[in-house]
Amino acid sequence: MKISVTKTNSTAGTEVLRDAQGGKANQSGQSDDEAFSAMLAHHKALVETARECVKALNVAIHEGDAYETTQSEFITYFVDQVLPHAKAEEETVYPAAATQVGLGNLVERMIAEHRELEYQLKLLQQVTTPFDVMKVATHMVDLFEKHVNVENQQILPVLLNSDVNSLSEILSALHEHYELLCRSSGAVKTDGDIESEGDKGNKGAREVVGPYVLDVRNLPPAQRHQTIFATFNGLAPLASFVLVNDHDPKPLYYQFNAEYTGEFGWEYLESGPEVWRVRIFKQ
Ligand SMILES: [Fe+2]
Ligand SMILES: [Fe+2]
Repeated sequence: MKISVTKTNSTAGTEVLRDAQGGKANQSGQSDDEAFSAMLAHHKALVETARECVKALNVAIHEGDAYETTQSEFITYFVDQVLPHAKAEEETVYPAAATQVGLGNLVERMIAEHRELEYQLKLLQQVTTPFDVMKVATHMVDLFEKHVNVENQQILPVLLNSDVNSLSEILSALHEHYELLCRSSGAVKTDGDIESEGDKGNKGAREVVGPYVLDVRNLPPAQRHQTIFATFNGLAPLASFVLVNDHDPKPLYYQFNAEYTGEFGWEYLESGPEVWRVRIFKQ
């Protein structure tokens, strides 16, 4: 069995979103409730297509087929569909959600999960054994599904019930961003780190960015540890972020060791003299 993940057949949910949001944008009177339903349908379609990719990978591996093609299609699907969706959310839904009481830390966690998906995608481009390909791809889809469920259950309903925000307008803006990202010659721009179509690697996939970077250098010292622990607590299992600090965060390491014994990983990527970068994992 082989699936073909193309822009056309993997945007069924997007079409639902487009129709609904287009209605709003074109004064056809779409309500916030309708926009909410359209977004749920879009999320469902994204997750289902990703699951289909993993199923196809599993079948190819077990039947001894050339699974690399399906691996490449899976990567392309995430680069062309999932990452633009995530990036568009960061420009529209998340800023609106962050203004809602109690959602600030959750939005931080959602952004960290986007960065983790990008990191895992990079891993998927590098692994070469069937076992590792399945492990990474399955983890990605599990993480994505959980992530989407949180958006569906904890973020979108708050915006739907907000007196300040119009969910239909927010989702209309999301769709515009998404379209722009998809349209830019097949290139997805996230801080300049995702390459253009012409830079595709030998598996037909573009390079993606690394994990979420938390730079605390401009935060007041009193807020640093709180922010770092909030980010860590928001990580999915096996996820990570890169902490950037202006001094060796050794005391933080000891605090992690005391409070999260055996639950975290700590890897220095850069050790001064001016900047320290540490990758912190959730075990
Ligand atoms: Fe998201
Ligand atoms: Fe989403």
